[in-house]
Amino acid sequence: MATILALETSCDESAAAIVRDRTVLAHAVASQVEEHARFGGVVPEIASRRHVEALPQLIATVLTESGVALPQLDAVAATVAPGLVGALLVGSVTGRTLARLHGLPFLGMHHLEAHLCSVELGSPLPPGPYLVLLVSGGHTELIRVDGPGRYQPLGRSHDDAAGEAFDKVARLLGLTYPGGPAIQAAAEGGDPHRFALPKGRVSRPEGGFYPYDFSFSGLKTAMLRQVRALEATAEPLPVADLAASFEQVVADVLVERSCRCARDQGLATIVLVGGVAANRRLRQRMERSCAEAGLQWRLAPLAFCTDNAAMVGVAATQRFAQGCSSPMDLGVAPRLPLVQAGQLYEATACF
Ligand code: KG4
Ligand code: ZN
Repeated sequence: MATILALETSCDESAAAIVRDRTVLAHAVASQVEEHARFGGVVPEIASRRHVEALPQLIATVLTESGVALPQLDAVAATVAPGLVGALLVGSVTGRTLARLHGLPFLGMHHLEAHLCSVELGSPLPPGPYLVLLVSGGHTELIRVDGPGRYQPLGRSHDDAAGEAFDKVARLLGLTYPGGPAIQAAAEGGDPHRFALPKGRVSRPEGGFYPYDFSFSGLKTAMLRQVRALEATAEPLPVADLAASFEQVVADVLVERSCRCARDQGLATIVLVGGVAANRRLRQRMERSCAEAGLQWRLAPLAFCTDNAAMVGVAATQRFAQGCSSPMDLGVAPRLPLVQAGQLYEATACF
């Protein structure tokens, strides 16, 4: 049984956790959301500074709460890719320093692999293959998983990530950052069918469409046009109907393309992870469509959809069990794709 200290600092959440196998002994998150809210998005320099300030206390908290002393750890893990470079560096340097001082192995973790493993904090994942829909502030991807570390990308967004679209549309509607929870709250009681909005398809150069890819830029423009047209009338902006219609079309697109992809690829299970996986309408829509299509589904537990270190710990447990460890001079990789996560480790068995 491996006991791992995991750190997460890839964006605007500082987090630490102690995980023993798949059990979270303690986890703590310090969100910077309020600080970035007044800028309408994450300011990288502020994010790095707040990680530096928050991380020591978070580590102390999870060690105390778990009753685990540093010498009892088997490894230290920190997210090193992808994300904001300065933010990633804080977790990476902290993790490597602790590992070096206590003679422990260090594991540099891929943030998307961590999101993927967040499902395990609820119920065990099937052995694979299965399809993952990963929807966060920076990524919208459909990934076939054949087992730990074995990923095949099948679909992606060609412009904004789904979370980014939520954040931008929220700003358009005069709602707060982050946009996802704000739109969900504003959509409460709204009519999701009042406005017809486009489902953003991506054309193939040779004709037709990429069946599993996404585009949210047309939807954003349609929302802008709709809002401008409504503002030209004397009526107050119907924010609830606009938010509900937007949420509905995003959920429709994500679920329809995921189900089609799973069916075409002969995959029996869809796994939903990432910050946008916290969206109630998306969760309900996914459950209903999977049930209708005879597919199995697994949703990341609500508490672990947005960034946290418990999911990093579960992913690290899996890598540690494979015999993976990272070199102590491992850097950070702000844009490393998930399929290249194996590059973070020394052992050749780690793909
Ligand atoms: O996974 P995450 O915490 O950070 C990244 O790795 O990007 O995802 C953050 C994103 C933000 O864009 C936020 O607006 C969105 O997840 N989000 C939601 C909800 N909660 C967070 N989107 C829709 N509905 C929600 N309830
Ligand atoms: Zn994330």
